Amino acid sequence: MTTDSRVVVVTGASSGIGRATALQAADRGEHLVLVARGESALQETFGECRDRGAASVAVHVGDVGDDAVVEKVVADILEQHGRIDAVVHCAGVVAYGRTEDVPAEVFDGVLRTNLIGSVNVARHVVPVMRRQERGALVLIGSVIGHIGVPSMSPYVLSKWGVRALARQLQLENRDVPGLSVSYVAPGGVDTPIYEQAANYDGFVGRPPPPVAKPDRVAEVALRRIDHPRARTQVGLANDVIRLGFSATPWAFDVLVGPLFRIAAMDRTTPVPPDAGNVLASRPGGNRLLGAQGNALLGVGRNIAAAVTGSRTGQRS
Ligand SMILES: NC(=O)c1ccc[n+]([C@@H]2O[C@H](COP(=O)([O-])OP(=O)(O)OC[C@H]3O[C@@H](n4cnc5c(N)ncnc54)[C@H](OP(=O)(O)O)[C@@H]3O)[C@@H](O)[C@H]2O)c1
Repeated sequence: MTTDSRVVVVTGASSGIGRATALQAADRGEHLVLVARGESALQETFGECRDRGAASVAVHVGDVGDDAVVEKVVADILEQHGRIDAVVHCAGVVAYGRTEDVPAEVFDGVLRTNLIGSVNVARHVVPVMRRQERGALVLIGSVIGHIGVPSMSPYVLSKWGVRALARQLQLENRDVPGLSVSYVAPGGVDTPIYEQAANYDGFVGRPPPPVAKPDRVAEVALRRIDHPRARTQVGLANDVIRLGFSATPWAFDVLVGPLFRIAAMDRTTPVPPDAGNVLASRPGGNRLLGAQGNALLGVGRNIAAAVTGSRTGQRS
């Protein structure tokens, strides 16, 4: 163990952006604390981090939506390391479906992980960092935390909430200059979250182009530990989308539905109603990258399907 390595906590570390963040932090020789619900995928990340040079790696299997779990994880970290230098909070889930079609427990489950989970992390980490008079909390939001999207109500609400939480925390901690809260909002990222999502929309979701690799978001998130910034958008498309939502809502509202169906759904792959990984982990689906292939080809397939009418969803 090196003495100058930092204690970096990564939630959602078994898949996608969290896994990429953990691996990059391991490359830097940090002490890593990995958190997620499913143990097997988390253990895979553990092995990868250890092999890539982490100063130490600890695994905590737990649900960030459970306040007592987060409290215990933080207590355990303090017992082991005596401090927390940084937290990159990536744990997240998605549900597709109209507001009235997503079952209540699934709707609440998305809010519980994405929003309440972020609150739980802040509730227990911020006091530690305030006592230390230093530390970095990085919250992963989404471009969807700035706009409206049909058939993603719980996710939209949760991510608007994460953005609001980040702003609140920034206001509340202005008196501790060494403590930073950074909000990072990716656009489409090639991770398994779309295939893992709960789905009551009839077709599987997919990341819309331009699609970033999780490594790109991880780089930005880790940079925010040393170079905090209140708000970061990952990808220029985010700015265009946000501008459209705010400046021309009449055009946005007309276009977002059809564009979402063509660019952010796989209209060739129908799926039955399913709670996905919202209520419980499906560790077999947790990987670094998604498995849906090139986004532009996906758009092309959707257009072809629409033209030929081979798959017509009820709500096209
Ligand atoms: N992929 C994108 O296009 C995209 C775009 C914008 C923002 N984001 C955001 O980026 C973050 C990471 O997403 P991702 O795409 O990397 O997703 P992902 O590949 O599905 O990974 C999600 C991770 O969170 C963990 N997790 C889920 N619920 C949890 C809970 N209640 N407690 C603890 N861990 C939990 C998962 O493991 P277990 O299920 O085993 O717990 C997994 O490790 C999320 O906040 C997401 O909203 C993603």
